[in-house]
Amino acid sequence: MSEEVTAPHKKSARPRRGEELELRITALAQGGRGIARTPEGFVVFIGGGLPGDVVRARVGKAKRSYAEASLIELVEPSPERIPDTCIHGGEPCPGAAWQGLPYERQLEHKAEQVADALVRLGGFDAAEIETKSEPIVEAVEQWRYRNKLEYSFGAPTAQDAPALGFHARGRWDEVVDVDDCKLASEANNAARNAVREWAAAEAVPAFDTASGAGVLKNLIVREGRRTGQIQTRLVTTEAEIPRPPVDLHTIVAAQSSGTDGPTGALGAEYLSERLGDLDLRVSPTAFLQTNTETAERLYAVAREYGALGQGERLFDLYCGIGTIGLSMAADAGEVWGIESVPEAIVDAEANADLNGITNAHFHAADARLGIRPLIEEAGKPDVVVIDPPRAGLSAKIVRRVLECEAERIVYVSCNPTTMAPNARQMVEAGYTLTRVRPVDMFPQTPHIECVALLERQGG
Ligand SMILES: C[S@@+](CC[C@H](N)C(=O)[O-])C[C@H]1O[C@@H](n2cnc3c(N)ncnc32)[C@H](O)[C@@H]1O
Repeated sequence: MSEEVTAPHKKSARPRRGEELELRITALAQGGRGIARTPEGFVVFIGGGLPGDVVRARVGKAKRSYAEASLIELVEPSPERIPDTCIHGGEPCPGAAWQGLPYERQLEHKAEQVADALVRLGGFDAAEIETKSEPIVEAVEQWRYRNKLEYSFGAPTAQDAPALGFHARGRWDEVVDVDDCKLASEANNAARNAVREWAAAEAVPAFDTASGAGVLKNLIVREGRRTGQIQTRLVTTEAEIPRPPVDLHTIVAAQSSGTDGPTGALGAEYLSERLGDLDLRVSPTAFLQTNTETAERLYAVAREYGALGQGERLFDLYCGIGTIGLSMAADAGEVWGIESVPEAIVDAEANADLNGITNAHFHAADARLGIRPLIEEAGKPDVVVIDPPRAGLSAKIVRRVLECEAERIVYVSCNPTTMAPNARQMVEAGYTLTRVRPVDMFPQTPHIECVALLERQGG
């Protein structure tokens, strides 16, 4: 669990930039970095270290109350560590920073981080949060759960094919080839490997940031887990490239002209997926929860907290392709969704049709600007669901949400550190935080999703 970083220490105790330290990691901070203390008690955050590890680390930034350091060597691994499962080029997968922790410990740390954020960043009472916290929901699968992965192209490997994989930790100029990433399905891995083989066979070069030469920048592989569909999206400097294998349904997004929109769809333009009872289509630029199977558990918690009654009105803010609102539509009188990506709204409307849902309406709008007109059009809602990106809501958007005067606000968050101050603002305006439940959407990583219920006092 994260701990106070403002412990008193002598000014001279601050480590210098570039200094190498051997430290024992004692805890995990919000965001997943290890926390260690120098013998003088100065707090140092170290990426990649787990509690119990003794590491050698080089100091980067050194602030007044804490320093940041990068791990150079694992001197003595924590006795709790388990062997890495996902390894690329001899290094642990950068997308699975917590894979050395047994799954049970990951869950404990995540539950603690949600509670800790509410207490320290939201100003809630620790005992109150303990009583309101419900047990963390486990992921359906601990590995091979991601329905989407983004890869980078890099300088050719020995086989003369461009490297296609992930950037090595802290090295933006170097791409480590990935053969089998255990966060993705076998089908996703096969698609990536097929794109690499195609690039080698057709001699399409990787883009080189230093010289500005080359063509291939990134590859995004998305998978309909329930439909078996695979979609690959190539981000390139040119639209005119040799045709990738037809079965990969490749979309080419060329960025050379200053636009990053898809310039040529060689396969289906959207992917089909099934989530809960819903058949869904999702456009390449629209958001879809990256863990399809566990998203069903997340939405079940949101639905339970929303507790919509027939005849009640729901606002689904940050609705993406409409998944949360549509999954609650049968319980509700009306559903109204707002989302800033227009393609996602086209998908949301199509998804309502696809599932025979007639009481859901969607508008492409920025949440900040769209809430007041929606109240004018639809009337005030009984329940508001908010599911913002990691940055959470600005204080102004919280004020707009409060103007809805909903009986219940269901806050779905992928970042408890931004949810906590938003929840505080809602409590100051007359809501009570009544329930909170973490959901592990991202095993092997420090990321944590959670759902909180805020109820209007006297409501
Ligand atoms: C975490 S996703 C949630 C999407 C959806 N609720 C789901 O579960 O699939 C956040 C969504 O907010 C949208 N978004 C980001 N900024 C926004 C804004 N200022 N106003 C409205 N929507 C926004 C994103 O495009 C994205 O679809």
